[in-house]
Amino acid sequence: MCGIIGYIGKGLAQESLIDGLRRLEYRGYDSAGVAFHEGNEFCMSRETGRVQNLADSVQKNSSQSSLGIAHTRWATHGAVTVPNTHPHVSHDGKFVMVHNGVIENFGALKHFLSGKGIEFNSETDSEVLCNLIAYNYSELLNEKDRLIDAVRIALAQCRGAYGIAVLCLDYSETMIGARRGSPLVVGLGDDANFIASDASAFVGRAKEAVFLNDGELAILKGTDFRITTLEGQEAKAVAHPVDQISEEVEIGDFDSFMEKEIYEQPTALKNTLRGRFGDDGTTAKLGGLEGHEEELRNLDRIIFVACGTARHACMVGEYLIERLARVPVEVEHASEFRYRNSPKAEKSLVIAVSQSGETLDTLEAVREAKTKGLLTLGITNVVGSSLARETDGGVYQRVGPEIGVASTKAFSSQVCLCAMLGLALGRMRDLSPMDGQGIVEALNDLPDLVSRVLQQGEQIRELALKYSKAEHLLFMGRQSLYPVALEGALKLKEISYAHAEGYPAAELKHGPIALINPECPSIFIVEGSELSAKTIANMQEVKARQGPVLAIAPEGVEIPKEAADDVFRLPVAHEVVRPILANLPLQLFAYHFARLRGLDVDKPRNLAKSVTVE
Ligand code: F6R
Repeated sequence: MCGIIGYIGKGLAQESLIDGLRRLEYRGYDSAGVAFHEGNEFCMSRETGRVQNLADSVQKNSSQSSLGIAHTRWATHGAVTVPNTHPHVSHDGKFVMVHNGVIENFGALKHFLSGKGIEFNSETDSEVLCNLIAYNYSELLNEKDRLIDAVRIALAQCRGAYGIAVLCLDYSETMIGARRGSPLVVGLGDDANFIASDASAFVGRAKEAVFLNDGELAILKGTDFRITTLEGQEAKAVAHPVDQISEEVEIGDFDSFMEKEIYEQPTALKNTLRGRFGDDGTTAKLGGLEGHEEELRNLDRIIFVACGTARHACMVGEYLIERLARVPVEVEHASEFRYRNSPKAEKSLVIAVSQSGETLDTLEAVREAKTKGLLTLGITNVVGSSLARETDGGVYQRVGPEIGVASTKAFSSQVCLCAMLGLALGRMRDLSPMDGQGIVEALNDLPDLVSRVLQQGEQIRELALKYSKAEHLLFMGRQSLYPVALEGALKLKEISYAHAEGYPAAELKHGPIALINPECPSIFIVEGSELSAKTIANMQEVKARQGPVLAIAPEGVEIPKEAADDVFRLPVAHEVVRPILANLPLQLFAYHFARLRGLDVDKPRNLAKSVTVE
């Protein structure tokens, strides 16, 4: 949550900072601010609302500075007001700071600083940290490394998570960044260097990115930089090229990033699948799992940890892996796993799934699993993310940056990778070469089938229009389509603010059926297996109570007229890819439903793309 960017270089900071904030806006968009080092003072602008408000305001007063920091906020401590907007300035005007994260002991630190006569202008934990740095600086009057030591000491006094960028008035050529728990990356360009929450912020301006590890400090001085630990030891800086993501973050002709990301799923899935099958065409070959074959062969339990949409993908994975590999699978909310006393089993594998690779609940679950000595693997989309670095092995999704807050293409590729994992594990156990070959073929056909479904987007728009007045909707599916029902409901509620729930279809009569009335549409996802008849019977139960029914069903499955008001057809496909196909019309339904209500689907209220607080 919250995006930060800092610029230090030979050019003007303003354009890079505002542009960077626009690219980071998916991390939070409650308010935005910028501070420039102007020699003998900091020039600040802060506005509530979107980055555009800030851009309008700084345009009136263009800065000539080549050193500045900026922030886009997702409110944690304190309401959405200008005083709570970053950057925060210390009481003596010496320091400005932007912060992503939560300082858990800010109350005690604030009390300490108040005792020293320091007054505060905001309700934020971040202003406390800024003042703590200023206080330590004032106490270190004659130290050689006064600035760096002041930051180090303050950070050692903090509990919680932070990614920060700090400027000091006495240093017109220095910017300091540090991280613990929240991501931070240094961008290296020809004429300027950057600090940012993620590399998308300096796409087109920096050539290389150096991802900081937890507990590291970046010291950017003029055109130089170095990384140290918080204790002061030099740390290794590994640079990764950033050019390859440059044009992928542009919106092109689409109306929103969400729409673009839905429609790029055929390509995204091709990239997820590329080069990942064994030469004999019967199994999957996931490079990131190499070296762990023995452990994978002998597994007796898999525990998935994830949040939100990623967790729904894992739930699909649970059905697929149990079916293909016959390994018991559990799916945990990452936030719950961490605090459970689940019995330790030696041969358990923990798989953490996270598009961003920065979701704090998921990372903490991984850390807890490692504490217990379990093997951890990650499935993530972001190269160099904390998840990628902290797990023992893993697989990249390769779907390109996902900017829309509502996760779409990431879900499809996560399910696809779960199917590939199930295939690989299955082939290490009982799955026959013929069954393996059938799954490989089904996965290779998937991108084309996805294209076919997306071509029917107009039909979904019409259905969304028909049901767009509904304030309560139910989504139902069985087996691996039950998590798809959950995902359809989540997508709809997060971007349209209509109330939606997902259930296993047979659960309907155990409670939710009480909600059925002519104003509450039910969306049923029909399996295309021997279970279809049972789901169709559930649809009839809804129709008997005057509830509108929309069925999503494979071609060839007969839906009696009296069982559904509308039917959207999916192509006939292998069971391992059906959940991905069935989810596509639900993504489009949520998208059109929200657009028809005039809502901004890329930035739904109260949400942020990357949730880096617990
Ligand atoms: C919903 C959505 C969220 C994320 C969740 C986990 O559309 O995007 O529910 O899935 O916050 O995010 P990652 O996958 O980055 O860990």
